[in-house]
Amino acid sequence: MSILQTTQSTHYDRYPHVFRGTKIIIEKDFSALGRTLEILSFGCSTGEEIKSLKDKYIPDANYTGVDVNEQALIKARELLKNYQGVVFANSIHFKLENNRYDVIFCLSVLCRHLLEKNEPPLLFNLFDDTLTALDRRLNIGGYLVVYNANYCVLDSSIGDKYEPVYSATITESNSNVQMYCKDGVNTRELGICLFKKLR
Ligand SMILES: C[S@@+](CC[C@H](N)C(=O)[O-])C[C@H]1O[C@@H](n2cnc3c(N)ncnc32)[C@H](O)[C@@H]1O
Repeated sequence: MSILQTTQSTHYDRYPHVFRGTKIIIEKDFSALGRTLEILSFGCSTGEEIKSLKDKYIPDANYTGVDVNEQALIKARELLKNYQGVVFANSIHFKLENNRYDVIFCLSVLCRHLLEKNEPPLLFNLFDDTLTALDRRLNIGGYLVVYNANYCVLDSSIGDKYEPVYSATITESNSNVQMYCKDGVNTRELGICLFKKLR
């Protein structure tokens, strides 16, 4: 399992504009679903992302938090021990599971913070392989939310299966992460982080 983002930094209600924008779109889209929404937080770190979503935005969904860092997962399990419908797993096991999700959050995972640390960007292949794995776990009609990434979802191998969805609350794809084209040469900023799976 490759390490994507190297830090575990996270905090409560970290990206309110992304959470609110996603909530508005999915409430409209899934209003007649007739079952509990299944949401994946990929790169959940110590669990504050799921806690924020449960407390303030999408409380009735079931959540799976996945991370590669076992220490972060121990803290996440403790933080959410009194919450119903929340489970955590190491991403090693995630590769083997067959569950499918309606919404996948992948926030500040597919990047290196090169502006802060003078690091090279994440390798495009790692970005692409991770999105391919996430795509396998997402239902058709579901949403992939990718924020703070070094590349755009539309440039990946799964890009042609997705359409960008614009939300009034989300005006940029990244907060402080440099975005690159696939070839690593030019920057791009599309102002989108929400993608609907069409097929
Ligand atoms: C900066 S944190 C982001 C936490 C949260 N999503 C947020 O935005 O606040 C990045 C997380 O990605 C995790 N990560 C790195 N590589 C991973 C992999 N291959 N599979 C799952 N998680 C990974 C790290 O362990 C870390 O907890």
